[in-house]
Amino acid sequence: MQRFKNKTALITGGTNGMGFATAQQFINDGGKVIITGRSEESVHNALKKLGEQASGIVSDAGSMKNLMNLRLEVRKYTESIDVLFANAGYGKFFPIENVDENHFDELFNMLVKGPFFTVQQMLPLMRKGSSVIFNTSVATEIAMPNFSVYSAAKSAVQSFIKTFAVELTERGIRVNGISPGHIKTNIFNNTGLNAEQIEDAVHGIIPTIPFKRQGEPTEIANAVLFLASEEASYIHGAELKVDAGISVIR
Ligand SMILES: NC(=O)c1ccc[n+]([C@@H]2O[C@H](COP(=O)([O-])OP(=O)(O)OC[C@H]3O[C@@H](n4cnc5c(N)ncnc54)[C@H](OP(=O)(O)O)[C@@H]3O)[C@@H](O)[C@H]2O)c1
Repeated sequence: MQRFKNKTALITGGTNGMGFATAQQFINDGGKVIITGRSEESVHNALKKLGEQASGIVSDAGSMKNLMNLRLEVRKYTESIDVLFANAGYGKFFPIENVDENHFDELFNMLVKGPFFTVQQMLPLMRKGSSVIFNTSVATEIAMPNFSVYSAAKSAVQSFIKTFAVELTERGIRVNGISPGHIKTNIFNNTGLNAEQIEDAVHGIIPTIPFKRQGEPTEIANAVLFLASEEASYIHGAELKVDAGISVIR
């Protein structure tokens, strides 16, 4: 398929996981991508795999300085973008008593201010017919221990789906979101858990998933590409759950 021929997507956090899978599929579907990530190395490695239809920018979604510079950086590669997938982020999970201001600010800066100001800064490059997709989480639907700050941050992003949709309707920009369930990515890599502890955590989660398996990043990418495509031309202000039903099946 060539659904995205002559289209450009900006994918924040495109060096790994769902962002990378979305970048790969967008390119396979005829488009060009610009990805972001926090380090030269991760961006460089991802670009090597993505090939010549991809460009990359080192930009931290938790840094206002980087966010305010992002449009200038994007303009080095394109004058307009058709799809913006606000995806960058990671999880850190602590009991309420162990949450300090640094943890709170780290997650809110990256997960709330990050997507907000990314979209704000990209709006001048987005024309009628373009589309924004926010990445929320099943954590907005299911209460999990140690997720208080992460879930609150993702709930804020969930609210952006509606508020941005209402403001951007006049400009012909569609705004939607995807809510991933438990997906096989590096999401636990910034938690401070070691490989064995991560494996144990995943082991504990799997029986709670209706399909008894984690989702693949490509299964999220499929949903993002659908929302970005003409096939979703009448979908606006919606959040698509891609979670094997875990948020509704008990
Ligand atoms: N995996 C899940 O089960 C799950 C479920 C629901 C929602 N989510 C959300 O899905 C999104 C993508 O995560 P993932 O699961 O695909 O994890 P991942 O494999 O760790 O990928 C995260 C991506 O975001 C980038 N990133 C992380 N922090 C960043 C920052 N401050 N600035 C710019 N880029 C940053 C990483 O790149 P660098 O390392 O190069 O910076 C990487 O490309 C996140 O928003 C996460 O909260 C994940």
